[in-house]
Amino acid sequence: MTKKNYKRYTITSALPYANGPLHIGHLAGAYLPADIFVRHLRLQKKDVVYVCGSDEHGAAITIKAKKEGTTPQAIIDQYNSQIKKSFEDFGIAFDIYHRTSSPIHHDLSKEFFLNLYEKDEFIEKFSDQYFDEEYQQFLADRYIIGTCPNCENDNAYGDQCEKCGTSLSPTDLINPRSTLSGNAPILKPTKHWYLPLDKYQPWLEKWLLEGKKDVWKTNVYGQCSSWLKQGLQPRSMTRDLDWGVDVPLEEAAGKKLYVWLDAPIGYISATKQWAIDKGKDWQLYWKQQPNEEDNSCLIHFIGKDNIVFHCITFPSILHAHGDYILPEQVPANEFLNLEGDKLSTSRNHAVWLHEYLEAFPGKQDELRYVLTSIMPETSDSEFTWKDYQARVNNELVAILGNFVNRVMILMHKYFDGKVLGGTKFTNQSLFDEVGSAYDGVETYLNDFKFRNAISTVMDVARLGNRYLTENEPWKTFKESPEEAREVLQNCLHIIAHMATLAQPFLPHTSEKIFGMLNMEKNVLNYDEEIIFADGHQLNPAALLFEKVEDAVVEAQIQKLANAKELNTMETKVSVLPAKENINFEQFTGLDIRVGTILEAEKVAKTKKLLKLKIDTGLDQRTVVSGIAEYFEPENIIGQQVSILVNLEPREIKGILSQGMILMAENSEGKLTFAAPVDNFAAGSVIR
Ligand code: 2FM
Ligand code: ZN
Repeated sequence: MTKKNYKRYTITSALPYANGPLHIGHLAGAYLPADIFVRHLRLQKKDVVYVCGSDEHGAAITIKAKKEGTTPQAIIDQYNSQIKKSFEDFGIAFDIYHRTSSPIHHDLSKEFFLNLYEKDEFIEKFSDQYFDEEYQQFLADRYIIGTCPNCENDNAYGDQCEKCGTSLSPTDLINPRSTLSGNAPILKPTKHWYLPLDKYQPWLEKWLLEGKKDVWKTNVYGQCSSWLKQGLQPRSMTRDLDWGVDVPLEEAAGKKLYVWLDAPIGYISATKQWAIDKGKDWQLYWKQQPNEEDNSCLIHFIGKDNIVFHCITFPSILHAHGDYILPEQVPANEFLNLEGDKLSTSRNHAVWLHEYLEAFPGKQDELRYVLTSIMPETSDSEFTWKDYQARVNNELVAILGNFVNRVMILMHKYFDGKVLGGTKFTNQSLFDEVGSAYDGVETYLNDFKFRNAISTVMDVARLGNRYLTENEPWKTFKESPEEAREVLQNCLHIIAHMATLAQPFLPHTSEKIFGMLNMEKNVLNYDEEIIFADGHQLNPAALLFEKVEDAVVEAQIQKLANAKELNTMETKVSVLPAKENINFEQFTGLDIRVGTILEAEKVAKTKKLLKLKIDTGLDQRTVVSGIAEYFEPENIIGQQVSILVNLEPREIKGILSQGMILMAENSEGKLTFAAPVDNFAAGSVIR
């Protein structure tokens, strides 16, 4: 992080799509780190605006609406409320949580498009795009599925194969079909407006490759430089869709802005709305100021799948516009996995935030603590319930909670909870150690090292525990109550500092501690000394954390296992039902033999058929088989097969087919040979 002292900060967290609830991966990726960072800045009395909101456009929303038989508007309304509530529950302290469906956002997005259009930045191009004739509409990439050319997954999307991760264009798909009608779409020309990223490449090389080396996190910088190395291509900023921001051109009636054009502009429109609500000037937070040192420091907190849009596309748009500041930092996190598997919304392999709070009411800070401690800062990391339990029990309960509790109980027991005389630290080395924790947290947060920062806060609790244990006020109290008081009051100072340091990370806990200390929350500044007035009365001790029992954790693990089971059952639903029974004679009537493919060729003018010559042990015969979509002829010569040899011969495409080879077919229609496991003599009987 650049150490410059900024006048102002503009902090953003990725706008979540309003098409599903939030899970722990979201929280750990883009919201918790930003919230901690912002709270830290606010404690330093910095001028900061922290914005976010729902991303309410794009094909993901319309697909969800279609699946659920409802409207996109109903979907975004439902999830916007749910997401907003989860953020509030977990204390994510946005200045505004906005929506991209708002008029102010539509207006600003159109303004951006027109600004670039009038500067002649866009390349206008006709290209062939898939069109569903039955539905009379062009198909967004996500609306087209087909076979992945890389891994043969039959359900790859037009923009990506989720099985092998390859990013695709719709025309890469083999046998594309529309998810609307199920039909094969046709290609039809349509006009779109492209952002000339290739034109901005030299500028990006200077601004990003030169300017951000050793400034941005290595995982972010690495991804960007590999994009730039590959060479950037123009990217279409418009779509043929019926949901989104209208393209503000007459000739583009019915077209919408690409969701990745309007979504990041959502950060600006949210700031505009906040400024209107609070009587502020939004331009101070987004526009370049006459003196560069007056510019706001723009930081985007995101997950790694959003890097290209925040580091390359959006900065290019801001640069092309000309009046705006560029991101100083994009501290993207990697992914969080769950119990050895990728988090997955569709497979319901997730810890949903609203469900967590149902199971663990009031325990937001426990989750904040664990997720911060395992944050995927530089590489993917993993959440497990056992680890959650261990961190809560061995760290929050045993170290932080225990320290605060012991001091509060003893202060009440020996001194009726009254602080007397010593209003400052009387132990220099404690004072120094706590002081260095402030420096540590500050340095770590500036480097986006949240794990180290939170462990530095815990070190203060460790320090307090050690000091208390070594000085044993419960032993000294009888002989020398003043000595015991001094130790306990030094501990109160440690607690107050610890609560201040913990505020960005564990805001609910910090507030509870200040409550016990009978101090107003957030009265403290990092640079202020904590002073208790003579005679200050403490409030009763309250327990900060509870142990997580084995049964609770096991129930959560079981819940994930149940979801997995359900998922497998749902997949199995597509298995064909059993056929009616046959008798033994009917079965023995089938003459099935081991055979070997000797020759194979495609049947002309067909897509699916191969003409095979098969050694059945009895003879060599021709069989026509519908396997051409799955096997190249040259790859199956020598393949052993099971062949039904007494099937009545029939003519297929003018070829007499004598028998049938047996194939296994899965629920997705994929084929594999049903053949002996070991190489067996042709003619061997299968029964
Ligand atoms: O990946 C996502 O969830 C997007 N909705 C993030 C958008 S971030 C920004 F640009 F708005
Ligand atoms: Zn694939």
